[in-house]
Amino acid sequence: MPTASRAPAASRRHPPGLYVLFFTELWERYSFYSMMAILALYMNEKLHFSVAHVGQVYGSYIAGVYFLPLVGGFLADRVLGFYRAVVIGGALMMLGHLVLGVESLPFFYAGLTLLACGSGLLKPNVSTIVGNLYRDNPGLRDAGFNIFYMGINIGAFISPLTVSWFRIHYGWSVAFASAAGAMLISLAVFIGFRRYLGDAAGKVAETSREARAVSPAEARARVITLLMVFVISAVFWLAFYQNGFTLTFWARDNTLTSIAPEKFQAIEPLGVILLSPLFVWAWMWLQRRNAEPSTPVKMLIGVLFVAGAFGMMAWAGLIGGDTGRVSVQWLVWAYIVIAMGEIALSPMGLSLVNRVAPPRSRGLLMGGWFVSLSIGGYLSGSIGAYWTRMPHSRFFLLVVGILAVTGVLLVLMTPSIKRTIARVDAEERAALAES
Ligand code: PHE
Repeated sequence: MPTASRAPAASRRHPPGLYVLFFTELWERYSFYSMMAILALYMNEKLHFSVAHVGQVYGSYIAGVYFLPLVGGFLADRVLGFYRAVVIGGALMMLGHLVLGVESLPFFYAGLTLLACGSGLLKPNVSTIVGNLYRDNPGLRDAGFNIFYMGINIGAFISPLTVSWFRIHYGWSVAFASAAGAMLISLAVFIGFRRYLGDAAGKVAETSREARAVSPAEARARVITLLMVFVISAVFWLAFYQNGFTLTFWARDNTLTSIAPEKFQAIEPLGVILLSPLFVWAWMWLQRRNAEPSTPVKMLIGVLFVAGAFGMMAWAGLIGGDTGRVSVQWLVWAYIVIAMGEIALSPMGLSLVNRVAPPRSRGLLMGGWFVSLSIGGYLSGSIGAYWTRMPHSRFFLLVVGILAVTGVLLVLMTPSIKRTIARVDAEERAALAES
Protein backbone atom coordinates (compact mmCIF):
# COMPACT_ATOMS: atom_id res chain seq x y z
CA MET A 1 0.00 0.00 0.00
CA PRO A 2 2.38 2.72 -1.16
CA THR A 3 0.12 5.77 -1.00
CA ALA A 4 -2.44 4.83 1.60
CA SER A 5 -3.00 8.51 2.42
CA ARG A 6 -4.82 8.90 -0.88
CA ALA A 7 -8.31 8.06 0.24
CA PRO A 8 -10.90 8.12 -2.53
CA ALA A 9 -12.38 11.59 -2.97
CA ALA A 10 -15.13 12.50 -0.50
CA SER A 11 -14.61 9.29 1.49
CA ARG A 12 -16.03 9.49 5.00
CA ARG A 13 -13.10 7.47 6.33
CA HIS A 14 -10.10 9.20 7.80
CA PRO A 15 -6.78 8.40 6.15
CA PRO A 16 -4.83 5.81 8.19
CA GLY A 17 -1.96 8.31 8.43
CA LEU A 18 -4.10 10.31 10.85
CA TYR A 19 -3.76 7.57 13.45
CA VAL A 20 0.00 7.44 12.97
CA LEU A 21 0.16 11.18 13.70
CA PHE A 22 -2.36 10.82 16.54
CA PHE A 23 -0.01 8.46 18.43
CA THR A 24 3.14 10.35 17.42
CA GLU A 25 1.67 13.52 18.92
CA LEU A 26 0.10 11.77 21.92
CA TRP A 27 3.51 10.51 23.05
CA GLU A 28 5.28 13.74 22.15
CA ARG A 29 2.78 15.77 24.21
CA TYR A 30 3.01 13.20 26.99
CA SER A 31 6.75 13.82 27.09
CA PHE A 32 6.33 17.60 26.83
CA TYR A 33 3.73 17.91 29.59
CA SER A 34 5.57 15.45 31.87
CA MET A 35 8.49 17.77 31.80
CA MET A 36 6.35 20.91 32.13
CA ALA A 37 4.62 19.47 35.18
CA ILE A 38 7.84 19.15 37.17
CA LEU A 39 10.02 21.84 35.57
CA ALA A 40 9.19 24.62 38.04
CA LEU A 41 9.48 22.27 41.02
CA TYR A 42 12.84 21.04 39.78
CA MET A 43 14.19 24.57 39.42
CA ASN A 44 12.93 25.52 42.84
CA GLU A 45 13.72 22.39 44.86
CA LYS A 46 16.75 20.92 43.13
CA LEU A 47 18.49 23.87 41.47
CA HIS A 48 17.47 26.22 44.33
CA PHE A 49 16.24 29.03 42.04
CA SER A 50 14.19 31.80 43.66
CA VAL A 51 10.52 31.93 42.62
CA ALA A 52 11.19 35.05 40.52
CA HIS A 53 14.04 33.30 38.75
CA VAL A 54 11.83 30.24 38.16
CA GLY A 55 9.20 32.49 36.60
CA GLN A 56 11.74 34.12 34.31
CA VAL A 57 13.18 30.85 33.02
CA TYR A 58 9.76 29.21 32.77
CA GLY A 59 8.26 32.14 30.81
CA SER A 60 11.20 32.44 28.43
CA TYR A 61 11.16 28.69 27.87
CA ILE A 62 7.48 28.66 26.86
CA ALA A 63 7.96 31.72 24.66
CA GLY A 64 10.88 29.91 22.98
CA VAL A 65 8.95 26.66 22.60
CA TYR A 66 6.14 28.41 20.73
CA PHE A 67 8.33 30.87 18.83
CA LEU A 68 10.77 28.39 17.31
CA PRO A 69 8.06 26.59 15.27
CA LEU A 70 8.36 29.59 12.95
CA VAL A 71 11.91 28.53 12.18
CA GLY A 72 11.03 24.83 12.22
CA GLY A 73 8.16 25.40 9.80
CA PHE A 74 10.31 27.42 7.44
CA LEU A 75 13.08 24.81 7.47
CA ALA A 76 10.54 22.08 6.67
CA ASP A 77 8.99 24.11 3.80
CA ARG A 78 12.25 24.96 2.12
CA VAL A 79 15.01 22.62 3.20
CA LEU A 80 14.16 19.47 5.10
CA GLY A 81 10.64 18.48 4.14
CA PHE A 82 8.18 17.60 6.89
CA TYR A 83 9.27 14.02 7.50
CA ARG A 84 12.91 14.78 8.22
CA ALA A 85 12.01 17.86 10.27
CA VAL A 86 9.84 15.72 12.57
CA VAL A 87 12.44 12.98 12.95
CA ILE A 88 15.27 15.42 13.72
CA GLY A 89 13.01 17.41 16.07
CA GLY A 90 11.95 14.27 17.91
CA ALA A 91 15.54 13.12 18.33
CA LEU A 92 16.55 16.54 19.71
CA MET A 93 13.67 16.43 22.17
CA MET A 94 14.58 12.95 23.35
CA LEU A 95 18.16 14.07 23.87
CA GLY A 96 16.93 17.24 25.61
CA HIS A 97 14.98 15.27 28.22
CA LEU A 98 18.01 13.07 28.95
CA VAL A 99 20.38 16.04 29.21
CA LEU A 100 17.90 17.82 31.49
CA GLY A 101 17.98 14.83 33.82
CA VAL A 102 21.68 15.34 34.55
CA GLU A 103 21.34 17.28 37.75
CA SER A 104 23.64 20.22 37.04
CA LEU A 105 23.12 23.76 35.78
CA PRO A 106 24.93 23.77 32.40
CA PHE A 107 23.12 20.54 31.47
CA PHE A 108 19.84 22.09 32.56
CA TYR A 109 20.14 25.03 30.16
CA ALA A 110 21.49 22.81 27.38
CA GLY A 111 18.51 20.49 27.90
CA LEU A 112 15.97 23.32 27.68
CA THR A 113 17.62 24.65 24.52
CA LEU A 114 17.55 21.21 22.89
CA LEU A 115 13.90 20.77 23.86
CA ALA A 116 12.82 24.16 22.47
CA CYS A 117 14.70 23.57 19.18
CA GLY A 118 13.35 20.02 18.94
CA SER A 119 9.75 20.95 19.53
CA GLY A 120 10.16 23.87 17.13
CA LEU A 121 11.03 21.34 14.43
CA LEU A 122 8.52 18.69 15.42
CA LYS A 123 5.30 20.27 16.67
CA PRO A 124 4.22 22.54 13.79
CA ASN A 125 5.28 20.05 11.15
CA VAL A 126 3.29 17.15 12.58
CA SER A 127 0.25 19.44 12.41
CA THR A 128 1.05 20.41 8.83
CA ILE A 129 1.25 16.74 7.80
CA VAL A 130 -2.17 16.15 9.39
CA GLY A 131 -3.65 18.82 7.13
CA ASN A 132 -1.77 17.52 4.09
CA LEU A 133 -3.40 14.10 4.50
CA TYR A 134 -6.70 15.75 3.58
CA ARG A 135 -5.68 17.36 0.30
CA ASP A 136 -7.96 14.89 -1.50
CA ASN A 137 -10.77 15.09 1.00
CA PRO A 138 -10.91 18.60 2.45
CA GLY A 139 -14.44 18.17 3.83
CA LEU A 140 -13.14 15.83 6.50
CA ARG A 141 -10.14 17.94 7.49
CA ASP A 142 -11.69 19.78 10.46
CA ALA A 143 -12.95 16.48 11.88
CA GLY A 144 -9.48 15.01 11.38
CA PHE A 145 -7.89 17.84 13.35
CA ASN A 146 -10.43 17.25 16.12
CA ILE A 147 -9.40 13.60 16.43
CA PHE A 148 -5.72 14.60 16.32
CA TYR A 149 -6.39 17.13 19.05
CA MET A 150 -7.74 14.39 21.30
CA GLY A 151 -4.39 12.62 21.11
CA ILE A 152 -2.72 15.84 22.28
CA ASN A 153 -4.99 16.06 25.28
CA ILE A 154 -4.76 12.39 26.25
CA GLY A 155 -1.01 12.97 26.54
CA ALA A 156 -1.57 16.25 28.41
CA PHE A 157 -3.99 14.65 30.86
CA ILE A 158 -2.06 11.50 31.81
CA SER A 159 1.49 12.84 31.97
CA PRO A 160 1.24 15.08 35.08
CA LEU A 161 -0.11 12.12 37.05
CA THR A 162 2.47 9.54 35.92
CA VAL A 163 5.53 11.81 35.99
CA SER A 164 4.68 12.71 39.56
CA TRP A 165 4.80 8.98 40.42
CA PHE A 166 8.23 8.60 38.78
CA ARG A 167 9.54 11.66 40.61
CA ILE A 168 8.31 10.57 44.03
CA HIS A 169 9.53 6.97 43.69
CA TYR A 170 12.72 7.32 41.64
CA GLY A 171 13.77 10.99 41.64
CA TRP A 172 14.24 13.76 39.10
CA SER A 173 16.55 12.04 36.62
CA VAL A 174 14.27 9.05 36.18
CA ALA A 175 11.25 11.35 35.84
CA PHE A 176 12.95 13.30 33.03
CA ALA A 177 14.18 10.03 31.50
CA SER A 178 10.58 8.78 31.43
CA ALA A 179 9.81 11.74 29.17
CA ALA A 180 12.70 10.68 26.94
CA GLY A 181 11.21 7.16 26.85
CA ALA A 182 7.88 8.60 25.70
CA MET A 183 9.68 10.50 22.96
CA LEU A 184 11.31 7.27 21.80
CA ILE A 185 7.85 5.67 21.45
CA SER A 186 6.66 8.74 19.55
CA LEU A 187 9.57 8.49 17.10
CA ALA A 188 9.18 4.73 16.71
CA VAL A 189 5.52 5.17 15.75
CA PHE A 190 6.30 7.97 13.30
CA ILE A 191 9.19 6.21 11.58
CA GLY A 192 7.72 2.70 11.76
CA PHE A 193 4.43 3.67 10.14
CA ARG A 194 5.82 6.26 7.75
CA ARG A 195 4.36 4.45 4.73
CA TYR A 196 0.84 5.49 5.77
CA LEU A 197 1.77 9.16 5.43
CA GLY A 198 2.37 8.86 1.68
CA ASP A 199 3.44 12.13 0.13
CA ALA A 200 1.80 14.23 2.86
CA ALA A 201 5.14 14.39 4.68
CA GLY A 202 7.15 15.57 1.66
CA LYS A 203 8.16 19.03 0.61
CA VAL A 204 5.82 21.02 -1.70
CA ALA A 205 7.96 21.56 -4.79
CA GLU A 206 8.19 25.08 -6.22
CA THR A 207 7.08 23.76 -9.58
CA SER A 208 4.18 21.65 -8.30
CA ARG A 209 0.74 22.35 -9.68
CA GLU A 210 -0.40 23.21 -6.18
CA ALA A 211 2.30 25.85 -5.73
CA ARG A 212 1.80 27.41 -9.16
CA ALA A 213 -1.96 27.76 -8.74
CA VAL A 214 -1.55 30.59 -6.24
CA SER A 215 -0.68 33.98 -7.72
CA PRO A 216 1.47 36.38 -5.67
CA ALA A 217 -1.53 38.67 -5.07
CA GLU A 218 -3.67 35.76 -3.91
CA ALA A 219 -0.86 34.53 -1.69
CA ARG A 220 -0.66 38.00 -0.10
CA ALA A 221 -4.42 38.09 0.51
CA ARG A 222 -4.26 34.68 2.17
CA VAL A 223 -1.40 35.68 4.41
CA ILE A 224 -3.27 38.82 5.50
CA THR A 225 -6.32 36.71 6.38
CA LEU A 226 -4.17 34.44 8.48
CA LEU A 227 -2.53 37.37 10.27
CA MET A 228 -6.01 38.54 11.31
CA VAL A 229 -6.77 35.06 12.60
CA PHE A 230 -3.51 35.08 14.58
CA VAL A 231 -4.59 38.23 16.42
CA ILE A 232 -7.79 36.49 17.55
CA SER A 233 -5.81 33.43 18.54
CA ALA A 234 -3.33 35.45 20.65
CA VAL A 235 -6.19 36.94 22.67
CA PHE A 236 -7.83 33.54 23.11
CA TRP A 237 -4.59 32.11 24.56
CA LEU A 238 -4.10 35.20 26.73
CA ALA A 239 -7.29 34.16 28.52
CA PHE A 240 -6.56 30.44 28.29
CA TYR A 241 -3.12 30.63 29.93
CA GLN A 242 -4.61 32.07 33.08
CA ASN A 243 -4.97 28.34 33.90
CA GLY A 244 -1.45 27.89 35.27
CA PHE A 245 -1.48 31.35 36.81
CA THR A 246 -4.42 33.31 38.24
CA LEU A 247 -6.88 30.40 38.06
CA THR A 248 -4.43 28.31 40.05
CA PHE A 249 -4.08 31.10 42.65
CA TRP A 250 -7.87 31.18 42.77
CA ALA A 251 -7.89 27.42 43.40
CA ARG A 252 -5.43 27.89 46.23
CA ASP A 253 -6.83 31.01 47.85
CA ASN A 254 -10.49 31.31 46.95
CA THR A 255 -12.01 27.85 46.86
CA LEU A 256 -13.26 25.59 49.65
CA THR A 257 -10.99 22.59 49.12
CA SER A 258 -7.91 20.78 50.36
CA ILE A 259 -7.02 19.45 46.90
CA ALA A 260 -3.60 20.63 45.63
CA PRO A 261 -4.25 23.69 43.43
CA GLU A 262 -2.26 22.50 40.41
CA LYS A 263 -4.36 19.33 40.16
CA PHE A 264 -7.24 21.42 38.84
CA GLN A 265 -5.24 21.81 35.65
CA ALA A 266 -6.01 18.20 34.70
CA ILE A 267 -9.71 19.05 34.33
CA GLU A 268 -9.34 21.05 31.15
CA PRO A 269 -7.52 18.44 28.99
CA LEU A 270 -9.89 15.80 30.38
CA GLY A 271 -12.81 17.99 29.32
CA VAL A 272 -11.31 18.27 25.84
CA ILE A 273 -11.01 14.46 25.62
CA LEU A 274 -14.53 13.75 26.82
CA LEU A 275 -16.27 16.51 24.88
CA SER A 276 -14.39 16.40 21.57
CA PRO A 277 -16.39 13.44 20.21
CA LEU A 278 -19.54 15.40 20.96
CA PHE A 279 -18.28 18.35 18.95
CA VAL A 280 -17.08 16.15 16.08
CA TRP A 281 -20.49 14.53 16.02
CA ALA A 282 -22.33 17.86 16.21
CA TRP A 283 -20.33 19.42 13.37
CA MET A 284 -20.89 16.32 11.20
CA TRP A 285 -24.60 16.32 12.03
CA LEU A 286 -24.84 19.96 11.02
CA GLN A 287 -22.71 19.35 7.93
CA ARG A 288 -25.14 16.70 6.72
CA ARG A 289 -27.85 19.32 6.99
CA ASN A 290 -25.69 21.90 5.24
CA ALA A 291 -25.69 23.96 8.40
CA GLU A 292 -22.13 23.48 9.70
CA PRO A 293 -20.83 26.82 10.98
CA SER A 294 -18.00 28.31 8.95
CA THR A 295 -14.52 28.26 10.43
CA PRO A 296 -14.57 31.91 11.63
CA VAL A 297 -17.94 31.24 13.28
CA LYS A 298 -16.46 28.25 15.09
CA MET A 299 -13.65 30.49 16.28
CA LEU A 300 -16.21 33.00 17.48
CA ILE A 301 -18.00 30.23 19.38
CA GLY A 302 -14.65 29.39 20.99
CA VAL A 303 -14.06 33.00 22.05
CA LEU A 304 -17.60 33.23 23.44
CA PHE A 305 -17.24 30.04 25.50
CA VAL A 306 -14.07 31.32 27.11
CA ALA A 307 -15.67 34.73 27.72
CA GLY A 308 -18.57 32.83 29.33
CA ALA A 309 -16.18 30.92 31.57
CA PHE A 310 -14.53 34.11 32.79
CA GLY A 311 -17.97 35.67 33.20
CA MET A 312 -18.82 32.77 35.54
CA MET A 313 -15.63 33.39 37.48
CA ALA A 314 -16.49 37.09 37.82
CA TRP A 315 -19.84 36.03 39.24
CA ALA A 316 -18.09 33.64 41.63
CA GLY A 317 -15.92 36.54 42.78
CA LEU A 318 -18.93 38.75 43.39
CA ILE A 319 -20.79 36.16 45.48
CA GLY A 320 -17.87 35.71 47.87
CA GLY A 321 -14.69 34.67 46.10
CA ASP A 322 -13.33 38.23 46.05
CA THR A 323 -12.86 38.23 49.77
CA GLY A 324 -13.22 34.61 50.88
CA ARG A 325 -13.70 31.10 49.53
CA VAL A 326 -16.48 29.67 47.41
CA SER A 327 -17.34 26.18 46.12
CA VAL A 328 -14.83 24.48 43.79
CA GLN A 329 -17.75 23.94 41.41
CA TRP A 330 -17.22 27.41 39.95
CA LEU A 331 -13.68 26.65 38.87
CA VAL A 332 -14.49 23.11 37.74
CA TRP A 333 -17.30 24.32 35.52
CA ALA A 334 -15.26 27.25 34.24
CA TYR A 335 -12.55 24.77 33.16
CA ILE A 336 -15.14 22.61 31.42
CA VAL A 337 -16.48 25.62 29.52
CA ILE A 338 -12.91 26.67 28.65
CA ALA A 339 -12.38 23.13 27.30
CA MET A 340 -15.40 23.62 25.04
CA GLY A 341 -13.94 26.91 23.84
CA GLU A 342 -10.63 25.23 23.12
CA ILE A 343 -12.34 22.42 21.17
CA ALA A 344 -14.25 24.92 19.04
CA LEU A 345 -11.29 27.19 18.30
CA SER A 346 -7.96 25.47 18.48
CA PRO A 347 -8.29 22.49 16.10
CA MET A 348 -10.17 24.80 13.72
CA GLY A 349 -7.25 27.18 13.80
CA LEU A 350 -4.77 24.47 12.83
CA SER A 351 -7.07 23.30 10.08
CA LEU A 352 -7.62 26.83 8.76
CA VAL A 353 -3.92 27.64 8.60
CA ASN A 354 -3.27 24.45 6.68
CA ARG A 355 -6.06 25.12 4.21
CA VAL A 356 -5.53 28.82 3.59
CA ALA A 357 -1.73 29.15 3.66
CA PRO A 358 -0.12 29.40 0.23
CA PRO A 359 1.21 25.83 -0.30
CA ARG A 360 4.88 26.77 -0.29
CA SER A 361 4.54 28.64 3.02
CA ARG A 362 2.44 26.14 4.90
CA GLY A 363 5.09 25.23 7.43
CA LEU A 364 6.03 28.87 7.99
CA LEU A 365 2.45 29.99 8.58
CA MET A 366 1.75 27.02 10.84
CA GLY A 367 4.71 28.45 12.75
CA GLY A 368 2.88 31.81 12.77
CA TRP A 369 -0.09 30.19 14.53
CA PHE A 370 2.30 29.00 17.21
CA VAL A 371 3.78 32.49 17.54
CA SER A 372 0.26 33.69 18.32
CA LEU A 373 0.32 31.22 21.22
CA SER A 374 3.70 32.47 22.31
CA ILE A 375 2.40 36.06 22.33
CA GLY A 376 -0.82 35.02 24.08
CA GLY A 377 1.15 33.16 26.73
CA TYR A 378 3.42 36.13 27.28
CA LEU A 379 0.48 38.54 27.56
CA SER A 380 -1.33 36.23 29.97
CA GLY A 381 1.56 36.83 32.32
CA SER A 382 1.46 40.61 31.88
CA ILE A 383 -2.30 40.76 32.42
CA GLY A 384 -2.09 38.35 35.33
CA ALA A 385 0.01 40.94 37.14
CA TYR A 386 -3.28 42.80 37.79
CA TRP A 387 -4.61 39.86 39.81
CA THR A 388 -3.67 41.42 43.13
CA ARG A 389 -4.31 45.05 42.10
CA MET A 390 -8.10 44.80 41.84
CA PRO A 391 -10.92 42.59 43.14
CA HIS A 392 -10.82 39.20 41.38
CA SER A 393 -14.29 39.76 39.92
CA ARG A 394 -13.04 42.91 38.22
CA PHE A 395 -9.96 41.10 36.94
CA PHE A 396 -12.15 38.38 35.41
CA LEU A 397 -14.39 41.04 33.88
CA LEU A 398 -11.32 42.66 32.36
CA VAL A 399 -10.57 39.36 30.62
CA VAL A 400 -14.22 39.11 29.49
CA GLY A 401 -13.94 42.66 28.11
CA ILE A 402 -10.79 41.86 26.13
CA LEU A 403 -12.48 38.74 24.72
CA ALA A 404 -15.61 40.70 23.86
CA VAL A 405 -13.65 43.29 21.87
CA THR A 406 -11.90 40.43 20.06
CA GLY A 407 -15.26 38.81 19.34
CA VAL A 408 -16.50 42.02 17.73
CA LEU A 409 -13.30 42.27 15.67
CA LEU A 410 -13.79 38.69 14.54
CA VAL A 411 -17.38 39.38 13.48
CA LEU A 412 -16.13 42.33 11.41
CA MET A 413 -13.43 40.19 9.81
CA THR A 414 -15.68 37.19 9.15
CA PRO A 415 -16.85 38.21 5.63
CA SER A 416 -13.29 38.74 4.48
CA ILE A 417 -12.12 35.45 6.03
CA LYS A 418 -15.05 33.65 4.41
CA ARG A 419 -14.22 35.16 1.00
CA THR A 420 -10.65 33.92 1.27
CA ILE A 421 -11.83 30.44 2.28
CA ALA A 422 -14.29 30.38 -0.63
CA ARG A 423 -11.44 31.14 -3.07
CA VAL A 424 -9.32 28.41 -1.48
CA ASP A 425 -12.24 25.95 -1.77
CA ALA A 426 -12.76 26.79 -5.43
CA GLU A 427 -9.07 26.25 -6.08
CA GLU A 428 -9.12 22.93 -4.20
CA ARG A 429 -12.11 21.73 -6.23
CA ALA A 430 -10.45 22.75 -9.48
CA ALA A 431 -7.30 20.85 -8.48
CA LEU A 432 -9.33 17.76 -7.60
CA ALA A 433 -11.25 17.88 -10.88
CA GLU A 434 -7.99 18.13 -12.82
CA SER A 435 -6.26 15.21 -11.09
N1 PHE B 1 -2.76 22.00 24.42
C1 PHE B 1 -2.27 22.33 23.12
C2 PHE B 1 -1.00 21.56 22.83
O1 PHE B 1 -0.18 21.41 23.67
C3 PHE B 1 -2.02 23.77 23.02
C4 PHE B 1 -1.55 24.13 21.66
C5 PHE B 1 -2.46 24.32 20.64
C6 PHE B 1 -0.22 24.26 21.41
C7 PHE B 1 -2.02 24.66 19.36
C8 PHE B 1 0.24 24.60 20.15
C9 PHE B 1 -0.66 24.79 19.12
O2 PHE B 1 -0.79 21.11 21.74
